[in-house]
Amino acid sequence: MIVPIQIRKAAPGDAALVAEFNAQLALETEDLPLNRELVRGGVDRVLGDPAKGVYWLAEVSRQVVGQLMITYEWSDWRNGWFWWIQSVYVKKEWRGRGVFQALYHFVEEQASEQSDVCGLRLYVDARNAAAKTVYQRLGMEHTNYEVFEVDFRKAPRREVGQMFVTPTLPPGRS
Ligand SMILES: CC(C)(COP(=O)(O)OP(=O)(O)OC[C@H]1O[C@@H](n2cnc3c(N)ncnc32)[C@H](O)[C@@H]1OP(=O)(O)O)[C@@H](O)C(=O)NCCC(=O)NCCS
Repeated sequence: MIVPIQIRKAAPGDAALVAEFNAQLALETEDLPLNRELVRGGVDRVLGDPAKGVYWLAEVSRQVVGQLMITYEWSDWRNGWFWWIQSVYVKKEWRGRGVFQALYHFVEEQASEQSDVCGLRLYVDARNAAAKTVYQRLGMEHTNYEVFEVDFRKAPRREVGQMFVTPTLPPGRS
């Protein structure tokens, strides 16, 4: 059965749900438990500042069933903006029913109507075979680029035998 899917921009009142979807996404695809408070703060700041990005939500019968976020990268080579698709998540019970496809086509149409937008990009965990297939089915091409990063927020860890420990200061130091 084909269900009508509505796409709408997220508002501040959607922050809790968007943060929850992000937490589910990280846990499912990277086995990564996110700090809920931190994510909520990150979501709030996007919702409060359009320059940072925008969340688009997919609804069925007024129930939010999926999301993505768009952020922006200036390409000097192309003299235009790449829109980055991030925070992609569809509720488990709604998968395989065209929810992401609806979100993707909505964004693609919007982007292609703007003369200063040169394309869409995203990154995906190398182990996420399902998502990679989905993106290719929607017409995205796998590039030769790989992602490198320095993550200032990552807790520093030292290897001790088989254990990883976070360094602590000696007594009396603060
Ligand atoms: C990846 C994800 C967003 C796809 O959303 P979805 O709403 O289920 O996808 P759709 O139903 O719109 O499917 C789009 C296309 O991909 C195909 N597809 C969907 N799920 C697929 C899967 N698991 N394996 C292979 N193809 C798949 C569909 O058949 C459709 O192609 P078609 O139109 O040619 O038949 C969803 O599975 C999800 O939220 N996964 C967990 C989070 C995640 O991996 N996010 C991406 C992080 S980068």
